[in-house]
Amino acid sequence: MATVLITGTSSGIGKVTAKHLADKGWRVFATMRDLSKRGPLEKLLVEAGTGGQVTFETLDVNDPKSIDAAAASILAQTGGTLDAVVHNAGVAIAGAHEDMPDEEIRRVMETNFFGVLGLTRALLPAFRAQRRGRILCVSSQSAFAGQPANSIYCASKWALEGWAESIAFELDAFGIDVILVEPGPYRTEIWRTTERVTPPGGPYTTWARLVFRGADAHEAKHARDPEEVAQVIAEALEVPRPKFRYPVGFFAKLDFLLRGKLPTRMIRRGTTRYLGIPRTR
Ligand SMILES: NC(=O)c1ccc[n+]([C@@H]2O[C@H](COP(=O)([O-])OP(=O)(O)OC[C@H]3O[C@@H](n4cnc5c(N)ncnc54)[C@H](OP(=O)(O)O)[C@@H]3O)[C@@H](O)[C@H]2O)c1
Repeated sequence: MATVLITGTSSGIGKVTAKHLADKGWRVFATMRDLSKRGPLEKLLVEAGTGGQVTFETLDVNDPKSIDAAAASILAQTGGTLDAVVHNAGVAIAGAHEDMPDEEIRRVMETNFFGVLGLTRALLPAFRAQRRGRILCVSSQSAFAGQPANSIYCASKWALEGWAESIAFELDAFGIDVILVEPGPYRTEIWRTTERVTPPGGPYTTWARLVFRGADAHEAKHARDPEEVAQVIAEALEVPRPKFRYPVGFFAKLDFLLRGKLPTRMIRRGTTRYLGIPRTR
């Protein structure tokens, strides 16, 4: 039975991916930083009748000790092998850079970027020894073009993609595949839990509120069922030769196609107009 470790399975894309892969016969190690949040995934598994394939483990990607303990525990249960890791855990913070608390910037980078590096390093000896393995990172449409009031989230996904594209060179000889799955908007908790930093009377506050209004309208109209992302993740893990990148959904595919084809200023103007923000100059 193929084995997979997934991070951040308490909600959203991680939760439905754990269920989807279990449905397809994978042995899933569903990890989350707080196991008391396992209820929603357990409920989904009971409804689907797939509970037997899923083992819950604690894993906080911001804590090196937690990473090492989870990797050791999971590899001990599989006899030292693992077919794939899905780096899914992610957070965001919205607002203008000048308003952003330093610790928030670091929290996003720690979770979305450094956490992926740490867990990958903990698993690489097993992947190298078995001379195969898939390292799948849930990136984002945000890696294709800058977005207003979303600079640190975009930066974390751009960093992730540069790192992933680079380590693919050194891992190729070991039969290890590196894969990016890049969703557009999907209906998950991240849209509601992401803090919006808008200090009253701040120089960016009026602008940021307009951005959020546009983003909310975009999400309400276009965000889709995260099951679609789970299906693409399953495909990328199961095809004999996976592609390097999988943009998921119309908007991710559009941004991917436009990248490098239109001047960045033109894309910025189009995004501004789409969100309903008045032109500043
Ligand atoms: N939804 C979208 O529109 C969209 C689009 C593109 C990309 N993505 C990416 O998809 C991934 C999943 O996000 P989502 O949309 O499913 O949002 P979500 O519902 O908020 O899920 C995020 C998951 O990450 C977990 N997490 C956060 N910090 C963690 C940490 N330090 N250690 C372990 N787990 C941690 C959360 O756990 P807690 O419950 O403990 O907070 C939660 O399980 C993220 O990488 C996100 O950037 C989402």
